[in-house]
Amino acid sequence: MLVAPVEAAPANTPASPYDRLGGQATIAAIANRFYDLMDSDPAYAELRAMHAADLTPMRHSLAGFLSGWSGGPRDWFEANPGRCMMSIHRPMTINDATAGQWAAAIRRAIHDTVPADTQMANAMAGVLEEIALGMAR
Ligand code: HEM
Repeated sequence: MLVAPVEAAPANTPASPYDRLGGQATIAAIANRFYDLMDSDPAYAELRAMHAADLTPMRHSLAGFLSGWSGGPRDWFEANPGRCMMSIHRPMTINDATAGQWAAAIRRAIHDTVPADTQMANAMAGVLEEIALGMAR
């Protein structure tokens, strides 16, 4: 039986944000930069106080989430079937101030990590900001 060849993606298929940003190394660097900023800059003190002392598990979890979310490997989603970011955060007391701190820190982390692609950096930061502000009550 003849097997149809797997069609190559059309040449004009846009690269995923994950690939465009630089893949796993960049995504991990964004997550690490985010938690480094949160851990060191008093502007994010209120947000920092909500988190556990050891941020190591968070660094891995955020990188895993961002990877699948941006079009890269989906290991985090496969390991956490049906897990919804909004539901994870619903029991937390998130107000406009802490949501704003999250949004500001991730924007800084993205721009610090991918300074060359400002268009993609702005797009990614903008969507994450919308999600964060949507968690505030
Ligand atoms: C709106 C402001 C936000 C606040 C105040 C906040 C706070 C928190 C806190 C306190 C935790 C648990 C940390 C711990 O156990 O030490 C957490 C977990 C997490 N957050 Fe947020 N978060 C916010 C927004 C977001 C957004 C917008 C995303 C991604 C779109 C995100 C991604 C994550 C991830 C991936 C985890 C780990 C979940 C897990 O592995 O169980 N957070 N967040």
